[in-house]
Amino acid sequence: MVKALYGVFGNPVAHSKSPQIHQVFADQAGIEIDYQKIEPSENEFQSKVKEFVAAGGKGFNVTLPFKEEAYALMSECSKRAARAEAVNTVVIEDEGRYFGDNTDGVGLVTDIIVNHGWTIADQKLLIIGAGGAVKGVLGSLVDEKPQHIVVTNRTLVRAEQLIKHYDQSLCEAKGFNAINDHYDLIINGTSASLSGKIPEIPASVIGSKSRCYDMVYAADETLFNRWAIDLGAEEAVDGLGMLVEQAARAFELWTGYRPKTADVVSRLRKQLSLSIHNK
Ligand code: ATR
Repeated sequence: MVKALYGVFGNPVAHSKSPQIHQVFADQAGIEIDYQKIEPSENEFQSKVKEFVAAGGKGFNVTLPFKEEAYALMSECSKRAARAEAVNTVVIEDEGRYFGDNTDGVGLVTDIIVNHGWTIADQKLLIIGAGGAVKGVLGSLVDEKPQHIVVTNRTLVRAEQLIKHYDQSLCEAKGFNAINDHYDLIINGTSASLSGKIPEIPASVIGSKSRCYDMVYAADETLFNRWAIDLGAEEAVDGLGMLVEQAARAFELWTGYRPKTADVVSRLRKQLSLSIHNK
């Protein structure tokens, strides 16, 4: 039997866990898949997608830095992809038409509410960052009807631009220095950790009931989460669950099967901690 062809486009993509995650989902569903990693160079995204379609590809994921370019390429998009102006999941339809979706936001919200049992509705949210990562998830957070959302960013104008698309009585943009309250749920969506830093926001944002979510993940506690716990946050978790949940929604879109995710998250967590201890 010919295996159904799926893949992930990104650069770099070598360390992507998506092939492993989707293989587990396929095993659950009893489907044979061939899930490939494709690493186009900067100007090669479109041509590599065409090659993939010609080879019989049924669908693909998109990661950095191609999510916006993928959005521009779509024949049709979901509302949440249009809101994010970015696509992380593509269904290849008949006649080479592309349907684009963005499952990052629903992945984050599912991880927060279902896996961690936290609440978003009626909570005071602080979102740190205003780049692509935050743009991809803000709409889904708004949909959960928090009491208030402050988006704070090192470069204030980016946060101001971002919230323009949303209800101004719900969302507010603030510079780091202008935050003077504590928050129920604090989400770090910056790439500061890539340079070994944490965003320079006031410690007062952390209260004893604050819960923190770092959208990146790591084998050990992330720098941001260490900072939050040291300041007395109630809980702090990383984004491994979001990675698995966004993949689950992509898989469902392609195959109609909704994968079970809990085992996959714990398996990946175990591997991550083993990889650090083996070094
Ligand atoms: P991504 O797609 O990962 O969101 P991006 O669009 O380049 O990437 O956005 C990176 C985000 O991390 C931005 O919000 C950025 O802040 P600026 O808009 O001011 O650049 C934020 N960021 C990166 N390094 C940071 C640091 N050291 N401190 C605070 N914020 C940082």
